[in-house]
Amino acid sequence: MRRNILVTGGAGFIGSHVVRLFVNKYPDYRIVNLDKLTYAGNLANLKDVENRANYTFVKADIADLDEMRRIVGTYEIDGIIHLAAESHVDRSIKDPFTFARTNVMGTLALLQAAKEYWESLPEGYDGKRFYHISTDEVYGALELTDPEGVESPFSTTASSERRNAYGTEFFKETTRYNPHSPYSASKASSDHFVRAYHDTYGMPTLVTNCSNNYGPYQFPEKLIPLFINNIRRGKPLPVYGKGENVRDWLFVEDHARAIDLIFHRGKVADTYNIGGFNEWKNIDLIKVIIETVDRLLGNPKGCSEHLITYVADRQGHDMRYAIDSRKLQAELGWEPSLQFEEGIEKTVRWYLDHQEWMDDIVSGDYERYYGEMYANR
Ligand code: NAD
Ligand code: TYD
Repeated sequence: MRRNILVTGGAGFIGSHVVRLFVNKYPDYRIVNLDKLTYAGNLANLKDVENRANYTFVKADIADLDEMRRIVGTYEIDGIIHLAAESHVDRSIKDPFTFARTNVMGTLALLQAAKEYWESLPEGYDGKRFYHISTDEVYGALELTDPEGVESPFSTTASSERRNAYGTEFFKETTRYNPHSPYSASKASSDHFVRAYHDTYGMPTLVTNCSNNYGPYQFPEKLIPLFINNIRRGKPLPVYGKGENVRDWLFVEDHARAIDLIFHRGKVADTYNIGGFNEWKNIDLIKVIIETVDRLLGNPKGCSEHLITYVADRQGHDMRYAIDSRKLQAELGWEPSLQFEEGIEKTVRWYLDHQEWMDDIVSGDYERYYGEMYANR
């Protein structure tokens, strides 16, 4: 079936994996990648698909309502996968307004443009989809009740031998929203607007809330690519606070697979949580990254551990995120395909093999921003 799918934020980290998957898997779809190309957007992430007949790139700002109207109409969009956002918590602490503008007003402009266009068609909302990609951070923070970690209650068939849980509570689809950072507050607000467009106007919407992603093409301000790059360059590894915060990590291609599945088979107006069943305390994760980078570079074991530098904690640093994604597993049969050790090895190898990609990003503006960001830590 021919479909015209708009992917917003397709030049970013997760968006580029979604675009690549859809362009390769669905030759009959037209995939329109809409991206403003902020500091986080990089068309080099899509070099391998940029000349495909079913792929189009449009540079635009989602907060520009007239542009959204024009694009949705011009490309006769019938499905939207919305990833464009400001995505980094530390930046949101410095500049919350940009987060409200893009994440809240931008999502609203996109919703309104889709509403006007779809309501103008004879078939209305039939066969349409507005799928909003969100984060588990909207649920707030969980307590760390098992500081050493115990076996996760969610071990699945594809699970590794080592899946720890650091507490007894998990985010479920029914967990009350309780965002703390300006980033998560803006994402929570956008989630509410998406649901409001379903509840008020009947728009066929979907929302998913996912845990921390890792993998190729992630902007090196986020923990994993930042630390891989700093180890390679012999630079300090700034660990916030005591390094005891816990995150649940998912390989980005597994997220993209979940998005594909939910876009096509998810129940309209529903919410699915997506997670890796894979909790790690930051400091333990950092030691795995150091071990992997040193090994792949042929350095003596442990030789980069001295780069670990404890710095001032992030303001309002959420202690623990942990997702219960059994609903997605039970209803649509999705589960993570990679064991974490495999995923991290693949990821480190990718960054070491793509040093040009990294070096292009960390020159110029980024170096200046990063310098200012850490000057007073
Ligand atoms: P990213 O920062 O790598 O990419 C964001 C993309 O959005 C960039 O290409 C950027 O240019 C574009 N963009 C930003 N503002 C825009 C605007 N006003 N108009 C159009 N495009 C704009 O982010 P990511 O990590 O790929 O995250 C993608 C989505 O997934 C976000 O909505 C984020 O909240 C969500 N999410 C991310 C994670 C994670 O671990 N990275 C986890 C769960 C959910
Ligand atoms: P990050 O990758 O920014 O994702 P998020 O804040 O959305 O979870 O950070 C992951 C964890 O690593 C988080 O607990 C903060 C911590 N962290 C550091 O300790 N040092 C760093 O330099 C960064 C970027 C993050």
